[in-house]
Amino acid sequence: MHIDRYERNWIRFAGGLLVVFVAALTVAAVFLGVRLPGIAEQTIPIAQAGGEYDINKGWIRELAPRRYEVNMRARVWSFEPREIRIPAGSTVTFYIHSDDITHGIKIQNTTVSTMIFPGHVAKVTYTFDKPGEYVFVCHEYCGAGHHFMSGRVIVEE
Ligand code: CUA
Repeated sequence: MHIDRYERNWIRFAGGLLVVFVAALTVAAVFLGVRLPGIAEQTIPIAQAGGEYDINKGWIRELAPRRYEVNMRARVWSFEPREIRIPAGSTVTFYIHSDDITHGIKIQNTTVSTMIFPGHVAKVTYTFDKPGEYVFVCHEYCGAGHHFMSGRVIVEE
């Protein structure tokens, strides 16, 4: 079968690219430990606070000065707590669970963005250095009231 030289070179180039991609994936997965942000990494035991802190409710807890823990509850169609007020420079660890279906959370102007799968707890830590208002929204379509799912982190001076 005759294959044009030009076409053959492109086939070789495309084949070569595939080899490079597979090699890169293998190196990343096997040697560098790169993982997709999947279920396994996000599944952690729910924060066992005890006492007045009911894991089925949303709450904010101060662990130390400028160190907070937030147990966040997502459901159709709200987040609890809806408003989180902290001083600037605070590091907050969010434990986020869903009461019903799959939701998501994105806190604007931060690196916080994760899915919230029912039956799992997403854990995200972020340090809020700059004062201001950080709106968070559900970024996974979850039905008629999806666009109502929002709240804000208020970082005070
Ligand atoms: Cu919850 Cu969209």
